[in-house]
Amino acid sequence: MPHFYAKKIDHISYPVSKDGFLLSCVARNIKYDNDDLILMRYMDSYFFFMQQNRGDRVLVKYNKHLQYHSINDIKMALQTYMELCNADVLFHNLNTKKNKKSTNSYLLSPNKESISKLYKQSKRISIEIGFGSGRHLLDLAQKNKDIVFLGIEIYNPAISQVLNQIQLLNLDNLYIINADCRILFNILDSHSIDSIYLHFPVPWDKNPQKRVFSREFLKECERILKVGGFLELRSDSKEYFDYAIDISNDFNAFEIHTSINSQTSIISKYEARWQRQNKDIYEAKFILNNFKDFIDIVESNFDFTSVDIHKIINSNDLKLLGDKYFLHIKHIYKFKDGYILFILFGAFNAPSKIYLLVNDNGSIEVLGNIINTQINMQALQLMKKWSK
Ligand SMILES: C[S@@+](CC[C@H](N)C(=O)[O-])C[C@H]1O[C@@H](n2cnc3c(N)ncnc32)[C@H](O)[C@@H]1O
Repeated sequence: MPHFYAKKIDHISYPVSKDGFLLSCVARNIKYDNDDLILMRYMDSYFFFMQQNRGDRVLVKYNKHLQYHSINDIKMALQTYMELCNADVLFHNLNTKKNKKSTNSYLLSPNKESISKLYKQSKRISIEIGFGSGRHLLDLAQKNKDIVFLGIEIYNPAISQVLNQIQLLNLDNLYIINADCRILFNILDSHSIDSIYLHFPVPWDKNPQKRVFSREFLKECERILKVGGFLELRSDSKEYFDYAIDISNDFNAFEIHTSINSQTSIISKYEARWQRQNKDIYEAKFILNNFKDFIDIVESNFDFTSVDIHKIINSNDLKLLGDKYFLHIKHIYKFKDGYILFILFGAFNAPSKIYLLVNDNGSIEVLGNIINTQINMQALQLMKKWSK
């Protein structure tokens, strides 16, 4: 991740701007002296940097808790900060390829409104979860121009790489969303998706509750797939494969086809790795053969305006539990004009993260994406404990 070490840096009076970047504020963790958060804004986006003393040097690094940013943009933002604070730099990894900030219309926000664009563009929509290098997804998009593809990924460098490829290959039928698929699936329309590819998910053999595949996941696939549509799982982990088949035995909505070492039109980066190691590749195709009527969720928003920051600061329990969800105010930072809260919330196995900027003048700003799923909204209701 982009960062730099400096022998010393000057204090800045905030806010200050340079080259289109606005350094908004620096906030200090109220529990730890050595944990500063710097908020930088540019265009309609924002970055957080962490600043910590490490012995005789200062480390400033990108904080990756929020939504996707291109690596190039992050590097340029850090370079700007480096110059503004006159950093006496010892080391950095901020060489940029071009001096141009990126905008990318193929990167979608994780909300119903931006996804509705896809439903308008094509009658056929296909999803790849965790596309990694994008080899399989890009190949599909090039060969099937009448289908709209949606890649869902949580890893920034993979997203950057595929967004670049979309531009280079001039594709207009491939979109990317930076989100955890386990959360995002909840806001997709019922029976709207033709196919879902889940190729070589992280096996988590020692921690199965962290897997993408679960009973809840398959239930959501049953809801969002069209009848005749399919979920395709490929894995080198026999344990993962058996676990998925085991879960699917509780569902009668799918016809299941399994195979070992079956060929695909394109071999993904991970598949190539396992083939070189002569590992068996297990495939399961879950074809939906049963229509069930589901009620789509209606988007709602949580209103933070009644949050009383003083109640939060004086509270000795910042972890709240619901039935299947939780909310945890993990860190509180103080800046000149207010507080910044770092909040984890949502389902236990797929938490979301946001920062809440609470100004002394009463205004509150949410930094980060809230995917409006039912469980996220229920978790956020727990904030009411600290209402005015
Ligand atoms: C082992 S790699 C496989 C990459 C690619 N499918 C291939 O076959 O080469 C797993 C990928 O899934 C992504 N991933 C893991 N959990 C995810 C989640 N909950 N939602 C979306 N992507 C996820 C990871 O970032 C990683 O890129």
